[in-house]
Amino acid sequence: MTQHIVKTSPIDGQKPGTSGLRKKTRVFMQPHYLENYVQSIFDGIGGMRGKTLVVGGDGRYFNDRAIQVILRMAAANGAAACIVGQGGILSTPAASHLIRLRGTDGGLILSASHNPGGPDEDFGLKYNGPNGGPATEGVTDRIFARTTEIDEYRILDATDVDLNSIGDTSLGDMRVEIVDPVTDYAALMESLFDFAAIRALFANGFRMRFDAMHAVTGPYATEILENRLDAPKGTVVNGVPSPDFGGGHPDPNPIWAKDLMDAMYGADAPDFGAASDGDGDRNMIVGKGSYVSPSDSLAVLADLAHLAPGYAKGLAGIARSMPTSAAADRVAKAKGIQCYATPTGWKFFGNLLDDGRATICGEESAGTGSDHVREKDGLWAVLLWLNILAATGKSVAELMRDHWARYGRNYYSRHDYEAVDTAAANQVMDDMRAAFATLPGQSFGPLTVESAEEFAYDDPVDGSRSTGQGIMVGFTSGGRVMYRLSGTGTEGATLRVYLEQLETDPQAVEKDAQMALAEVISAADQIAGIRQKTGRDAPDVIT
Ligand code: G6P
Ligand code: ZN
Repeated sequence: MTQHIVKTSPIDGQKPGTSGLRKKTRVFMQPHYLENYVQSIFDGIGGMRGKTLVVGGDGRYFNDRAIQVILRMAAANGAAACIVGQGGILSTPAASHLIRLRGTDGGLILSASHNPGGPDEDFGLKYNGPNGGPATEGVTDRIFARTTEIDEYRILDATDVDLNSIGDTSLGDMRVEIVDPVTDYAALMESLFDFAAIRALFANGFRMRFDAMHAVTGPYATEILENRLDAPKGTVVNGVPSPDFGGGHPDPNPIWAKDLMDAMYGADAPDFGAASDGDGDRNMIVGKGSYVSPSDSLAVLADLAHLAPGYAKGLAGIARSMPTSAAADRVAKAKGIQCYATPTGWKFFGNLLDDGRATICGEESAGTGSDHVREKDGLWAVLLWLNILAATGKSVAELMRDHWARYGRNYYSRHDYEAVDTAAANQVMDDMRAAFATLPGQSFGPLTVESAEEFAYDDPVDGSRSTGQGIMVGFTSGGRVMYRLSGTGTEGATLRVYLEQLETDPQAVEKDAQMALAEVISAADQIAGIRQKTGRDAPDVIT
């Protein structure tokens, strides 16, 4: 086995976004592209000598090839060991757990999350730190800086490691440990939730449909739901991970999980439906004829988590990303605990979780999780819902009705304009920034602007400041619109418009969200001038 030091030069655009580096797969497959980035990660975290990493991904096209390169480079950089999920598979939350459980120096997770996979679709790679969470901005800045000056990388010349055989092997001087990707994670779930109560629910005829969307949660859901909780075989659908996610878009929302929505709104619908994304950190929850928005799901889970054994002593605090609705804030207020509002991106929850300030976190982008790992966790959310359904004996629709009756309803929707010309999208944002001083007091239809500003976050734990985190416009009615450019797209810009209106009249909490938000939607469009500046008549995706 020979070790090579390969001369290279910086490649443009290796700047990590909201969650690691995401690019078209063919971009990642270009000569030196992956290698440059992996070496930059190694250099950016202070070298690999003597370190141990967890390595695994969501099984998308190029996952296996990229893992072989990573292993050969880790060995050449002096790593002590890599712990790899069998077949190269690890869901993002399972990887986070493994990093923590085994006390490693972090991990490399290969995924582009909910983006489609395949040679002409997307690929991604991110580094998570020793706490199991996405690298902080300080670390990603160092990694990016390294990509701009890199001149060589180290790689071993070796045959492929057999990723399918569980057990230890070696690569040069580095130990490679192949582990079952599911076992440790399933044990963690069993320690948090009342499996006996959920088993009893299924034994009494409760019916569920879990759509794994041909992505990584298939084996996890099958083991936990069907094998350990005795849900009937067939509860998990699309449960075999495929490199192109069955040609689909593994994004658990009403648009991309349409089959599940149809089943849940159709005749003879199951009692409970759920889905997860490419790498298993997102979730969608839907009852019989009753879709639960991610913001509402966070609020209900935070409100009732104490019904699960792992959270019986209550919550230290709640955290949500700023664009997420304020439904969780109302729960926090009632419980007398703090609700933190962070920028978009799970990494911002890391310090709050590490510091014991927050127990449950969530984002409008279909992520919910807790201090059990340092990533959002799709199956965890599903199991907490199941635990709550078992403990209360209520249906999803009943729980939502109860929740809105008690706390009011934060009507909420997100409108996305995808693959917009980048210059036009930046113009939309810049023009609004220029109008911050003059917007307050202006009326748009029946709504009057109260405040207009750009969100900046001061981390209460390490004091770091993150600026430019989205434009917020508040109305005197209590309504709000937020505008942000996505940090996860791989084509042009995606403009996200987050719309919210609180309704506390118990007679008015069961309206259609788009109808209830009509005034905010119209004001949002006028304020930003989306139509004239982007040429788009309507959003591409409404969630
Ligand atoms: C990833 C992160 C999430 C974040 C989301 C936002 O999924 O893990 O924490 O909420 O990206 O994506 P966006 O496209 O809005 O930047
Ligand atoms: Zn994901």
